[in-house]
Amino acid sequence: MPETEGYFELKEECLFWLAILRDHGQFMYLAFPPSEKADAKEAQYYAGVFADLRQRVAGGLPEKLLSEIRNRVEDFRKYQQDVLHRLLTCSVGFNLPPLVLEETIDEAREFLLILDHVIPEKNPVLQDMHEHLMWLWNFTAHADAILMLLDPVEAIILTRAREFKKLFMALFYKAYSYGKMIKSRPECLANLIYLNREATTTSQEFIEYMGKLKCDVEECRVLGILPALLLDHMIREAHYYIGKIRGECPKDSASSGTGADSVAALGAATKKLRLWPAKNR
Ligand SMILES: [Fe+2]
Repeated sequence: MPETEGYFELKEECLFWLAILRDHGQFMYLAFPPSEKADAKEAQYYAGVFADLRQRVAGGLPEKLLSEIRNRVEDFRKYQQDVLHRLLTCSVGFNLPPLVLEETIDEAREFLLILDHVIPEKNPVLQDMHEHLMWLWNFTAHADAILMLLDPVEAIILTRAREFKKLFMALFYKAYSYGKMIKSRPECLANLIYLNREATTTSQEFIEYMGKLKCDVEECRVLGILPALLLDHMIREAHYYIGKIRGECPKDSASSGTGADSVAALGAATKKLRLWPAKNR
């Protein structure tokens, strides 16, 4: 199949998500204790599968490869759900909390929705709300991961992580409530633009904070067991989220809160901005 513009966008999505799932496989592999050899092997296998698929996508995205990706993601999601079930029934050793595993399952589900074209960009307001609910929730878990994996002596860094957790919870609550209010008439109102700006600014600050922390971890300046790869992973996800939500209404439409025209205008603006910078893929 020839690479149309839409397929190029899907290729960008695949490059991003396959790196994310490769990391999830790697995180799971590291989380199994020596007693869970078979599971560690399976998690490592998936990390390798997604790394390989990503390399192949870089050369093009024919239909056959696309369906192979879909099947492997679905297999991985089922495997993760099986591990989560065993974790909830205390029948497997695993050194990550269930909520962290659930977050990674959520991300596999998101990739499947994209592959199945279930998230069309017909209404950019609903698309923005979808991104908010998906990622703001995950970012609270990312702040939690930092809180869990740094040594308590790093009180200043931990205090900031606690602040970010509160901010992302507040933004999630706002997005959830706002999404319910506009459900019957999803229009581009000034409130949504403000929410987008608040969420973008907070996420950018979080990226800056994690970037600095990643350097400190790599240089062995902070105490803890937080891997630099996890920080890099969370930074990539935050960039992706910002790339998805930063569309804006034209000034007049935003302030008057009009309907269809502003939605269409936001759609055009958002479409242009949906790709994230190449350096963050
Ligand atoms: Fe992730």
